[in-house]
Amino acid sequence: MSNHLISAYQSLPVSFIRGDGVYLWDQDGNQYLDGLCGISVTSLGHNYPAVTEAIQQQAASLIHTSNLYSIEWQQKLADRLCELSGMDKVFFGNSGAEANEAAIKLARLYGNKQNIKDPQIVVMEHSFHGRTMATLSATGNRKVQAGFEPLVSGFVRVPYNDTESIEAVAANNKNVVAVLVEPVQGEGGIVVPDSGYLTALRKICDANNWLLMLDEIQTGIARSGKMFAFQHESIIPDVMTLAKALGNGVPIGACVTHGKAADVIQPGNHGSTFGGNPLACRTACTVLDSIVENNLTENAARRARQLVELLNQGLKNNDNLMEIRSLGLLIGIELNQNCPKLVTEALDRGLLLNVTADKVVRLLPPLIINETQTAELADKVIEVINTLPASH
Ligand SMILES: Cc1ncc(COP(=O)(O)O)c(C=O)c1O
Repeated sequence: MSNHLISAYQSLPVSFIRGDGVYLWDQDGNQYLDGLCGISVTSLGHNYPAVTEAIQQQAASLIHTSNLYSIEWQQKLADRLCELSGMDKVFFGNSGAEANEAAIKLARLYGNKQNIKDPQIVVMEHSFHGRTMATLSATGNRKVQAGFEPLVSGFVRVPYNDTESIEAVAANNKNVVAVLVEPVQGEGGIVVPDSGYLTALRKICDANNWLLMLDEIQTGIARSGKMFAFQHESIIPDVMTLAKALGNGVPIGACVTHGKAADVIQPGNHGSTFGGNPLACRTACTVLDSIVENNLTENAARRARQLVELLNQGLKNNDNLMEIRSLGLLIGIELNQNCPKLVTEALDRGLLLNVTADKVVRLLPPLIINETQTAELADKVIEVINTLPASH
């Protein structure tokens, strides 16, 4: 073990050397079922042939040129994202936090262009938007913020899934320019809002000339059973941020814009050395094509129904179960106690999952998962959750 790594992570004592489809293998040849996808990243599973081939071919021809020159794959990817989302223009970065930074900068620019000198963005309690200074300031989790004060100003916090509190902000604060919200709160514990929430937010934003900015970094790219989670409702956001599954593991982030948000950023306002390079963009084009060609959006929805039904069935007599929440293959199983040790219980049984918000077992399995593998996943998850003692 190296002593030269900054202790930012408390990594588990396992290291994987190979992956194929929904499975991973460690150095000792042990096999693990991947119920987490590296936190919503490897949605096509590991070593997906078309993605591997795209990376190999592009690496053999051109990896990087810089945004000083036009990049054909970047244009193709922007076209594809706009075609799939009904939106207009895209800026590319390298991560989720960067995509959200672009959105936050865009909102401030939008406000300043209207002479709002102290532009504010409405954000949610229990949200997660990243670890850079602006995105951790937007995040609704004190643990993420503690020690990094002074935080970036300009965020107004309200409860999630509560439109009345946003209407109250609209009535009292004339400096608000945007709402930044996750369609389903991921790190917050797979919290699925009431249906109609995004539509109500859209109306409030329209009435106040605010931008509706959706953080689809965890929910996007078919995981929810639609290509983008906002497509469960009949709305289009002004800004949508993407990362994670867009490159199936090759780092890429995108800030997608629509209508009045599309022309806010002008030359000189924003930039990135690596953002939108040919390797990442070609990979992401291949990811999107693979999802569409193989109907993986539908598969995600179908397998999610199967998984949730099996989990409900298998856990119905478990007194520790509070609730199973899901939107497509974003699945949260809330228990009545803190359960971080279930992560190692799962590992011991050849299963990767994660616990978020202390009490929520989070499953984000690959979208390529088949019926048999889904049943295997359900069996293992039920077995792991049943290791918890009953709490009285
Ligand atoms: C909703 C959401 N936004 C932003 C981020 C930050 O993404 P990244 O870690 O790529 O910066 C995450 C990561 O978990 C996320 O789930």
